Amino acid sequence: MYIKSIQFENYRNLKNDIFFPQKGINVICGDNAQGKTNLIECMWLFTGGRSFRGAKDRELIRFEEDTASAEVCFFAGEREQTIKINIQNNRRTPILNGVPKSYMSQIIGVFCAVIFSPNHLGLIKNGPEERRNFIDGALCQIKPSYASVLTKYRRVLNERNALLKDIPRHPELEDTLDVWNEKLAEEGAKIAFERMKYLRKLSVPAKDFYSGISSGRENLSLSYKNAYYADENMNCMEIKETLLEKITRRQTDDIYCGYTTGGIHRDDMTIRINNRDAKSFASQGQQRSAVLALKLAEARVLGQEKKENPIILLDDVLSELDLSRQNYLLTKLNSLQVFITCCESSAEAGHIVTISSGTIQNSSRRDNPPP
Ligand SMILES: Nc1ncnc2c1ncn2[C@@H]1O[C@H](COP(=O)(O)OP(=O)(O)O)[C@@H](O)[C@H]1O
Ligand SMILES: [Mg+2]
Repeated sequence: MYIKSIQFENYRNLKNDIFFPQKGINVICGDNAQGKTNLIECMWLFTGGRSFRGAKDRELIRFEEDTASAEVCFFAGEREQTIKINIQNNRRTPILNGVPKSYMSQIIGVFCAVIFSPNHLGLIKNGPEERRNFIDGALCQIKPSYASVLTKYRRVLNERNALLKDIPRHPELEDTLDVWNEKLAEEGAKIAFERMKYLRKLSVPAKDFYSGISSGRENLSLSYKNAYYADENMNCMEIKETLLEKITRRQTDDIYCGYTTGGIHRDDMTIRINNRDAKSFASQGQQRSAVLALKLAEARVLGQEKKENPIILLDDVLSELDLSRQNYLLTKLNSLQVFITCCESSAEAGHIVTISSGTIQNSSRRDNPPP
């Protein structure tokens, strides 16, 4: 898929205008604080996800204004489509191909993209939540129904936690926990099953990309980490059994703590480099390469599953890579539509887009210099 145009209205500092990117690599150049990340962030919002910078919806509206909107026209599913996002009252609402929708979650999976920004560098070293979010986010784009399973799980978890807090004062309620244990295991098993299946698919390209980035010197492997002994060969039913057993066994602890101490909301992904846990041992450079490999692999799997390549958004990552890694990246992404931001126009190839005080300007192609 590819973006044909994006139109902005009061979106952060971006000038109210329409931007026509190229099909291949678009290098977005500009000094600091000119709007490069704002542009990337805006494109990401069309996936239905939240701002990857953790911005609240109201922060996306231009200072002193009450509403903002952005509209993308893109080619996907063999036709031209549009998504318009209106932002008002700290809320975003989408219009998909002219049809208003109530929730952003209703457009997930229509416009697909993979984002890599410095915010994602913590993926290796930070807590498990970031790694779970990485897997869950990727799965939601592939399979939008996964998002509703996640929502259901969270609801069950909240209800069970509320009950756990009530039990010390109302011990008779303990009998009702069984029902919640069962529901939690049921929804949890669906999630763990999908996550494990996804990691199996992701592992292959992630390993290849990491090997390519490290010139074949290093090896990356991924596995799903859980505390209820579920493994890759189990089906959903078997995962549910082991999960339920674990949840039931920890019930007394859970009542004491007042929350659910075990389950898929505590799971993790183990990333190993040369058979060592990257979380404990990876250097800065290895972390950057590993995240890059994971993101490229995410794009590969997404492309395979949707039978269409996603848009690639790379914010401020190019300058952090040495020349050989930059070239590796650009070669691998050659056939996709890519948006890369950088301060100086250091990229070897691509269509240069300059941005200054929120004004976007297309300039000549770098890979096609005038004679
Ligand atoms: N809601 C907003 N309204 C107007 N300007 C904004 C808003 N949010 C951020 N900005 C401005 O956008 C600029 C930062 O843009 P950004 O895309 O992060 O820069 P960079 O080009 O360095 O990536 C800053 O000048 C900031 O003041
Ligand atoms: Mg920036």
